[in-house]
Amino acid sequence: MEKLEIKGGRKISGTIPISGSKNATLPILAATILTDKKIIIKNIPIVRDVQTMALLLSTIGSNVKLSQKNKKIEIINNNKLKTFAPYNLLKTMRAGILVLGPLLAKYGVAKVSLPGGCSIGSRPIDLHLNALKKMGARIKVKNGYIIASAKKGLRGCLIKFPKISVGATENILIAACFSKGITKLRNCATEPEIKDLIQFLKKIGCRIIQSGKRSINVIGVKKLKSATHKVIFDRIEAGTYIIAAALTNGRAKITDIDPKIISTEINLLNKMKVKIIKKKNHIIVFGSKKIKSINVTTKPYPGFPTDLQAQLMVLMTMANGISTIKENIFENRFMHVSELRRMGAHIQIFGNKAKIYGKSKLYGAEIMATDLRASVCLVLAGLVAKEKTILNRIYHLDRGYEKIEKNCQIVVQKLED
Ligand code: UD1
Repeated sequence: MEKLEIKGGRKISGTIPISGSKNATLPILAATILTDKKIIIKNIPIVRDVQTMALLLSTIGSNVKLSQKNKKIEIINNNKLKTFAPYNLLKTMRAGILVLGPLLAKYGVAKVSLPGGCSIGSRPIDLHLNALKKMGARIKVKNGYIIASAKKGLRGCLIKFPKISVGATENILIAACFSKGITKLRNCATEPEIKDLIQFLKKIGCRIIQSGKRSINVIGVKKLKSATHKVIFDRIEAGTYIIAAALTNGRAKITDIDPKIISTEINLLNKMKVKIIKKKNHIIVFGSKKIKSINVTTKPYPGFPTDLQAQLMVLMTMANGISTIKENIFENRFMHVSELRRMGAHIQIFGNKAKIYGKSKLYGAEIMATDLRASVCLVLAGLVAKEKTILNRIYHLDRGYEKIEKNCQIVVQKLED
């Protein structure tokens, strides 16, 4: 198995272009199931989850051409697709569940494996299934598969999500586009990736009206169009590199972004005394040796994202004083803490709260990545640690970060066991 060797004490500086968003690309790819017209998706990140979703689509019969060089996927569904999404493709990628809604809406049947993904909590899919049931689907779960049917097609209705969920909003939104009548979605997630999905769906001819902050109305259609769409930037990748520059006292220009979309993160880092100059499509981050402690709670957008919690925690270990994090989205998202402690961090956990005592001296150690964002947090810790860090199980990193080795300008070597 591959490992990374990270030599600490290197500043993150220079220009870092940000890729297209993984979490926007995945639902857009799933939504292409709805149409048999040619679709071109540009600015896709070349990361493993995107490749897995492309493979899933081609496995069910889509004609998928992925150009790594041009960061582009072309899709055309010439034939009727298969409605079976197997375990071997969903076990590593939770977003595979996003094919359930479109398959069911288009073909009236679907057999989709229960998804895998990061082990950051129990991650149920009840919100997805209950909404589809309300739209007329019959669903049973057997032998690890969701077996769903809606012989007369899905029908529009009022769906008030009891909890804000990015994936459930996306799955049901896509399904609603091809359902009969009007679907009224309430208490929806409003992440920028959902706005990007809506833009794409409108381009292919879906009729979607955002009627309030968390309300979306969808009028079902029967025919869709061809379209080209450029995926939005990856705000989590951007946030990760901002923190990397701040942490290592570097000076980095983070490009190909819209600073307005990450204003929560920028404001919070400003409060921690990280200087950030905002321009139209880029920002410049100046690291500081005097990071200030802060208290943060993760929340749905526009709150502070859970996907940056682990990275921010590393910055907090370098802050003067005690910081706290309340993790509100996932119940098991502090798995990086034990590894950070092994590197010398002083962190206490009380349920879903973490208390981080700064300023710590981190030392390189042999450590283990447990999920995607925990992996990148450990890379960041390795950057500021004394001596070298060996990170095991780096395959999680490849799921979401395209050029971490290059962008971190560090000595990152792939070693064999
Ligand atoms: C998406 C993102 C992930 C991010 C998360 C929260 C993608 C591919 N992944 O994941 O990176 O960390 O949003 O911003 O976009 N829940 C239920 N029942 C459900 C669905 C969710 O109880 O049926 C709960 C979850 O356990 C969690 C909360 O709702 O506590 C939010 O999860 P959700 O927004 O659905 O996360 P994902 O869409 O899986």
